[in-house]
Amino acid sequence: MGYKVVVAGATGNVGREMLNILAERQFPTDEVVALASRRSLGTEVSYGDKTLKTKDIEGFDFSGYDIALFAIGSEATKKYAPIAASQGCVVIDNSSLYRYDPEIPLVVPEVNPEAVEQYGKKNIIANPNCSTAQLVVALKPLHDRARIKRVVVSTYQSVSGAGKEGMDELWEQTKAVYNPTAEVPPKKFTKEIAFNVIPHIDVFLDDGSTKEEWKMTAETKKILDPSIKLTATCVRVPVFVGHSEAVNIEFEEFLDEDEARDILREAPGIMVVDKREAGGYISPKECVGDYATFISRIRQDSTIENGINLWCVSDNLRKGAALNAVQIAETLGNRCLKKG
Ligand SMILES: NC(=O)c1ccc[n+]([C@@H]2O[C@H](COP(=O)([O-])OP(=O)(O)OC[C@H]3O[C@@H](n4cnc5c(N)ncnc54)[C@H](OP(=O)(O)O)[C@@H]3O)[C@@H](O)[C@H]2O)c1
Repeated sequence: MGYKVVVAGATGNVGREMLNILAERQFPTDEVVALASRRSLGTEVSYGDKTLKTKDIEGFDFSGYDIALFAIGSEATKKYAPIAASQGCVVIDNSSLYRYDPEIPLVVPEVNPEAVEQYGKKNIIANPNCSTAQLVVALKPLHDRARIKRVVVSTYQSVSGAGKEGMDELWEQTKAVYNPTAEVPPKKFTKEIAFNVIPHIDVFLDDGSTKEEWKMTAETKKILDPSIKLTATCVRVPVFVGHSEAVNIEFEEFLDEDEARDILREAPGIMVVDKREAGGYISPKECVGDYATFISRIRQDSTIENGINLWCVSDNLRKGAALNAVQIAETLGNRCLKKG
């Protein structure tokens, strides 16, 4: 006896990972349906050792399905999520559309699992931004010990965070560097991403920050603690998968770097790799395909009274999106839903 599950956006970066992770973690399913736009009708996607043929989301009847994992972008979500929710299927959404709605829980299961119990207000649960998910996994156990006052974070975000078109653009531009007749102008990104870094993700806001930076602040407050101040600089880098973050944390109380390392070692979802030698830390290439949020370079910040610096790396398609969504489904199953 399992759940009847829909994966919407099954042909995309996140949707494909959702299918992989449902199979890897043996999420109990009686049926799995893959949906995408009409463009992908009949496209084959893998679910464990099975192959599913993608169906068109338009006109799909969600009644009788328990959970729908959505990864189709805000615009399409606005159209289809309310339909699924009104037909009795709980939507776990990866877009930013519902994250700031006070009636919709925003959940990272290592941090605020109890929030899933609020799912019934709209039959929708939101998944955070990829950069926020890995960050709050790292912050939560430290906050519990020494109360975080302020966080300063700089991100190094991979192109897969901008969908499959972002990955294609990096690949084509990289090849074109060796073939000057085949220039590939920027389309998905604002400047050439190959052999470059771009300090701009999502739209600019009136105060000069970007929406991606604002999301990290707003989501950390909603998931972890509204009293935490957070300032971010979000940067796109020419890495295919894996987001990295340089994080400076100021606490109410003193926290020794060795104690911080021990706390993080014990915390759920975290793998500490922190040797003070060449290569004794994790880079994004090594986190691909993994579930963990990796923490390295843990050290005291001696310029403030109660400060710690650390380096945080995770697979943005997994903890930043698909894995977190499947963990939400597991939490929902354990706490709220009946199977079959
Ligand atoms: N990538 C990340 O790290 C990450 C992290 C957190 C959240 N997210 C969010 O997850 C969502 C998907 O991102 P992605 O990276 O997987 O993008 P992607 O690789 O570009 O895939 C987009 C998916 O959405 C489907 N889609 C697009 N428009 C649709 C429509 N009108 N109706 C039905 N399906 C439609 C596409 O289907 P077709 O193939 O048929 O076009 C495809 O399956 C976005 O909301 C994104 O913000 C992504």
